[in-house]
Amino acid sequence: TEIKQLHRTGFHFQPHHHWMNGPNGPMYFKGIYHLFYQYNPEGAVWGNIVWAHSISKDLINWKSLKPALSPSKPFDINGCWSGSATVLPGLKPVILYTGIDTQNRQVQNYAIPANLSDPHLTEWVKSDNNPIVDPGTEVNSSAFRDPSTAWLTLNGHWNTIIGSRSEQTGMAYLYRSRDFLNWTKVEQPLHSVPNTGMWECPDFYPVSHFGRFGLDTSVMGNWFKHVLKVSLEMTRYEYYTLGKYYPMTDKYVPDNTSADGWSGLRYDYGNFYASKSFYDPMKKRRVLWGWANESDSVQDDVSKGWAGIQAIPRTVWLDPNGKQLLQWPVMELNRLRRKIVMMLNQKLVKGQNVEIKGITAAQADVEVIFSFSSLDNAEAFDPSWVDAQAVCSQLGSTAQGGVGPFGLLTLASENLEEFTPVFFRIFKAEANHVVLMCSDARSSSLKDGLYKPTFAGFVDIDLSSKKLSLRSLIDHSVIESFGGGGKTCITSRVYPTKAVFGDAHLHVFNNGTESITVEYLSAWSMRSARVN
Ligand code: FRU
Repeated sequence: TEIKQLHRTGFHFQPHHHWMNGPNGPMYFKGIYHLFYQYNPEGAVWGNIVWAHSISKDLINWKSLKPALSPSKPFDINGCWSGSATVLPGLKPVILYTGIDTQNRQVQNYAIPANLSDPHLTEWVKSDNNPIVDPGTEVNSSAFRDPSTAWLTLNGHWNTIIGSRSEQTGMAYLYRSRDFLNWTKVEQPLHSVPNTGMWECPDFYPVSHFGRFGLDTSVMGNWFKHVLKVSLEMTRYEYYTLGKYYPMTDKYVPDNTSADGWSGLRYDYGNFYASKSFYDPMKKRRVLWGWANESDSVQDDVSKGWAGIQAIPRTVWLDPNGKQLLQWPVMELNRLRRKIVMMLNQKLVKGQNVEIKGITAAQADVEVIFSFSSLDNAEAFDPSWVDAQAVCSQLGSTAQGGVGPFGLLTLASENLEEFTPVFFRIFKAEANHVVLMCSDARSSSLKDGLYKPTFAGFVDIDLSSKKLSLRSLIDHSVIESFGGGGKTCITSRVYPTKAVFGDAHLHVFNNGTESITVEYLSAWSMRSARVN
């Protein structure tokens, strides 16, 4: 029924119906990608959590299998919560996951495929040896979850980290094992940060200094950096650091190029949580999955009959500057591109707004390169502006600026009663320029009772080429944007009432004094993927 499905996505991963939260145990095995996810088989609200299971050959089209793990044993009877997959030597996948036991404690369990010659890995077996890790007396049993993909160190130990907190200090406990069955806690956590609260879904992996190639989680060497990502329960945002891992002393030391805490680097400055990455040996890349929660009401979710999508899987690699990661939608997504519309060398003077016609603007992929001839008109940057989101909500997309605001108006209704602008604004600071990127949901819908935040991040980019690029994936109720070639990403969930299906429009705009040129724009109608 159309009324209910106005906001269902066309090419994002979501179950056929009911509730979904974080991605679990993503992996590649014998020609097939597997994605498990936190799922409520009984409704569109969180609860009764099982590991639902889907398989794919291209990360875009998915077939749903039966749940891999459901509560059934004393060690998981109250829920099968998040965890990860590790493919052991000899191509033997193992799942580590958090079970909620009979006493409502969070314990760590493992499961293995019943039949390794079934490439779909349909059937999973939980051993009665479980739990393999319990919180004991030292660890807070209500804050002990989400084991990471394990990695092997040269001394023959498997290592995994588990999210936790002690008082308000967030931490990643390190556990190790020789046989993957008997695990012992390493005295010191791999890392901890005061006043960050509970760390959920920790992820830890190496990145190469050169190029886009990813590395297996177990690759060790002096010539790599590591990424430690955590999901902060208190804010529902994630942050990561780059740093150096010392496997012999079980230490991780973050670089001092970014903050290690609330204001640290983010994969995404919008709605993106409980993410997990995996190494894809087939295409030699690291792929990142993240959950984009709904921003409508619980009542809306119940009447839609579903809640939660996964963001488009992204390839992640180290920025050549060594100070942050870069992200880009996996290339398989491009196969859904159908009709293309282009714009070349279109000048946008102050206040100008040009519609991109001829594509399905509610289900589209847009890539654009903006250029400007000078930054002389850039407004002064106030050094007290540390919070990008606050600056963006203060300045907005419509108030005139110097260089910018310029960008895309996505999911716009015919008379602009509804629109979600994704845009840049460039400032002049003491020694350089500061680029602000925003995705502003405040004007996204005429409907009340929705969460319509202004999301924003800074883009650490060299502007000497006088160009700035933007890609946005628009899919009915989600806009996923990649600024500066994947330096800054922002995902927004929006629920327009007028800008739906054929009534949605796409524009480029400039509200700055400085003229902006759309050097090159391609916009594609996107086909729907076959999803579950
Ligand atoms: C993340 C999370 C995990 C937990 C799971 C429960 O959103 O809270 O910490 O394992 O979801 O569904």
